[in-house]
Amino acid sequence: MIGFMIWSLLASSMPKQGQLQLGFYSDSCPNAEKIVQDFVNEEIHNATSLAAALLRMHFHDCFVRGCDASILLNSTSAGQAVEREAFPNLSVRGYDFIDRVKSLLEAECPGIVSCADTIALVARDAIVAIGGPFWRVPTGRRDGLISVQSDAITELPSPFDNFTALETRFARKGLDIKDLVLLSGAHTIGIAHCSAFADRRLLNFSGVLGAVDPSMDSEYAANLKANKCKTFNDTTIVEMNPGSRKTFDLNYYSLLLKRQGLFGSDQALTTNATSLAIINQLLQGSLENFFREFGLSMEKMGQIEVMTGTQGEVRKHCARVNS
Ligand code: HEM
Ligand SMILES: *[C@@H]1O[C@H](CO)[C@@H](O)[C@H](O)[C@H]1NC(C)=O
Ligand SMILES: *[C@@H]1O[C@H](CO)[C@@H](O)[C@H](O)[C@H]1NC(C)=O
Ligand SMILES: *[C@@H]1O[C@H](CO)[C@@H](O)[C@H](O)[C@H]1NC(C)=O
Ligand SMILES: *[C@@H]1O[C@H](CO)[C@@H](O)[C@H](O)[C@H]1NC(C)=O
Ligand SMILES: *[C@@H]1O[C@H](CO)[C@@H](O)[C@H](O)[C@H]1NC(C)=O
Ligand SMILES: *[C@@H]1O[C@H](CO)[C@@H](O)[C@H](O)[C@H]1NC(C)=O
Ligand SMILES: *[C@@H]1O[C@H](CO)[C@@H](O)[C@H](O)[C@H]1NC(C)=O
Repeated sequence: MIGFMIWSLLASSMPKQGQLQLGFYSDSCPNAEKIVQDFVNEEIHNATSLAAALLRMHFHDCFVRGCDASILLNSTSAGQAVEREAFPNLSVRGYDFIDRVKSLLEAECPGIVSCADTIALVARDAIVAIGGPFWRVPTGRRDGLISVQSDAITELPSPFDNFTALETRFARKGLDIKDLVLLSGAHTIGIAHCSAFADRRLLNFSGVLGAVDPSMDSEYAANLKANKCKTFNDTTIVEMNPGSRKTFDLNYYSLLLKRQGLFGSDQALTTNATSLAIINQLLQGSLENFFREFGLSMEKMGQIEVMTGTQGEVRKHCARVNS
């Protein structure tokens, strides 16, 4: 009986999630999580823009070959193109930031803390540092050995995806419509380049030169076209969530109801009854409710196809596999 009580206490204080575990490094590197958190809090200059980039990096990492830090691998001279070359502008500063955290971790406990866990912890701590939601990050992810550019292109959702395509892509990763709506809420912060969406949304909808996507509010579209995304391949930066791109809030969803989603994939969330109902529920609920729900979906995202135990390795340098 006492044995059972101790067992259930242990089980509830160290919840296991898939095969990841809260506080996985508590014996092997007890300061690991604190090192990450302190570094993020001290070093996150230009906080919002970096936090957005790091959150997006975590998403891209998890959607391509699972959360295994394959997004950080450099190509070798002989090798084929890697994931990080598929989106060269993803986050140059993000790569550097992860490298700096990782060297602190290596100094403290060499070869213990994986790059995949580092990304997951950094993304969470960065979002918390800008006043966004907290979520639990169980750890124990192992780093992958492979990174292939074309995987990023086939696995990641496109800003032109319709609802069916988004639902299918997320379902393939074990994420449901609710997760899709919540995780898309990350677009409450950050920026986009016109070149990422403007050709097919503002300049050449359905292959009609000059045509604007009719699902976009016409005033919003006209304004973007006049002031920002004037030409094809324009790399001008636009706010993801005009007016509140620095604040992690519910404004993203309010704008969707005003047909002011930036990407087709954002606006598509209003085209499905289930998804629209979730948006309305979120808008009727509190910010705390959104934060809690977002956090639960992030926990799920952070466990996509993870490697644990003796799979993969713990990289010494996040940009290259151990030799
Ligand atoms: C639902 C499908 C999604 C699509 C199609 C999509 C697409 C994009 C695109 C095209 C950009 C702009 C990139 C640029 O031009 O620089 C972007 C930015 C961003 N995305 Fe997503 N995304 C999706 C889901 C997510 C998810 C699940 C997250 C995180 C949980 C996320 C986080 C972000 C953030 C934070 C930014 C701003 C990055 C910055 O400011 O540097 N996105 N996304
Ligand atoms: C902050 O981020 C913005 C957008 O990414 C960039 O234009 C600006 O130069 C950055 N400022 C600093 C001080 O890093
Ligand atoms: C990436 O960013 C650089 C500098 O901001 C810019 O010159 C380049 O055109 C961008 N590329 C894309 C594909 O947006
Ligand atoms: C959604 O997009 C897919 C391709 O990604 C296409 O086959 C399908 O017909 C589209 N569905 C609708 C309802 O437009
Ligand atoms: C959209 O919502 C409806 C009703 O909730 C659901 O049955 C359907 O499968 C969803 N997906 C698509 C792609 O329409
Ligand atoms: C406009 O879209 C059509 C169809 O996707 C494409 O063939 C054409 O090259 C595009 N025009 C420009 C100028 O990009
Ligand atoms: C935009 O850039 C792509 C590749 O960088 C190129 O193939 C395309 O022709 C360009 N389109 C225009 C209209 O300049
Ligand atoms: C990875 O590539 C970047 C950019 O090419 C370079 O600055 C960095 O030193 C490389 N890192 C490693 C560990 O090879």
